Amino acid sequence: MSAPPPRRPAARRRAVVVPAALAALLLAGCGEHAVLGPDGPAARSIARLGWFMLIAAFVIGGGYLLGLGYALWRGGRRPATPPGEGGRPAHGERDERSERGLVVAGGVVLPVLVIAALTTLSLNILNDRPPPDALSLHVIGHRYWWEVRYPAAGATPGFTTANEFVIPVGRPVAITLDSADVQHSFWLPDLAGKMDLYPGRTNQLVIQADHTGRYRGQCAELCGVQHANMAFTVQAVPPDEFAAYLTHHAALAAPPDTDAERAGQAAFLSRPCAGCHTIRGTAAAGELGPDLTHLASRRTIGAGVAPNDRGHLGGWVANSQTMKPGNEMPPVPLTPQQLQDLLVYLESLE
Ligand code: CUA
Repeated sequence: MSAPPPRRPAARRRAVVVPAALAALLLAGCGEHAVLGPDGPAARSIARLGWFMLIAAFVIGGGYLLGLGYALWRGGRRPATPPGEGGRPAHGERDERSERGLVVAGGVVLPVLVIAALTTLSLNILNDRPPPDALSLHVIGHRYWWEVRYPAAGATPGFTTANEFVIPVGRPVAITLDSADVQHSFWLPDLAGKMDLYPGRTNQLVIQADHTGRYRGQCAELCGVQHANMAFTVQAVPPDEFAAYLTHHAALAAPPDTDAERAGQAAFLSRPCAGCHTIRGTAAAGELGPDLTHLASRRTIGAGVAPNDRGHLGGWVANSQTMKPGNEMPPVPLTPQQLQDLLVYLESLE
């Protein structure tokens, strides 16, 4: 007896890597905040449909395999049938009729029923009309960031922000989706399914958060080189905090307080910044880039590409192309002093 030949290293690697990759793929969606941990009604009905499809696939697939195994087992044991005599239908013909019946039932009737059930369930999810008490938001996709417009609420005027926004917990939010350039997809897996944003066509999506907390979203349609860095966050807060958020964000930018802040604001207004960005309460009213009125209240810059601190913000303003190559913001020529003053001013925009 000789020992089995040793497995080749490449084969051994494959034996480890392939199952590990499959397991990683399967488990990637698990966890407290992910596709399989829905935290809102829309996401929950999608998860239910997903589980229903998965279980149905196992049951139907298993049933077919059992049937196939039984047929093979029976075919292997059955002796060859002699032809029928005296006008009696042959044994084989009777079998043939019942087999044809099985094929029609399992190959036509059952698939039609299953597909009809799945189509009905899917259409139910798609027909998600916003309830009348829903909060309305307008989200516009840009390469590579998200513009978020809040409507006026009572005496509070409407305002625009970017990439990070707040919703009231437990209340439906009807989001109108548009694109300023190419096709994007709004994906907030904890709360809802994906919805595409097209230029020239408006879509709608209803989200609702069951719990307070911060939910991460992502553009889910390849829209260019920085598609992967087109992230956003939605924070769900209690109603009183939401009212405070609206009041704070609807307010104009804080006027500069110190010499450095004044110099920074002057630099912002005199350099190309104001051509693309708005700071409400100043002459800056550009609409190509994110509204910066309350920039300092955001946690990240560049749609999630870096934390919003002085170092990263400085790098971003000086040349954002080094941090997010291919984004639409050109390098801004500034003297070192102008850059420092500008950062002081931007950090004052709470
Ligand atoms: Cu926008 Cu991908």
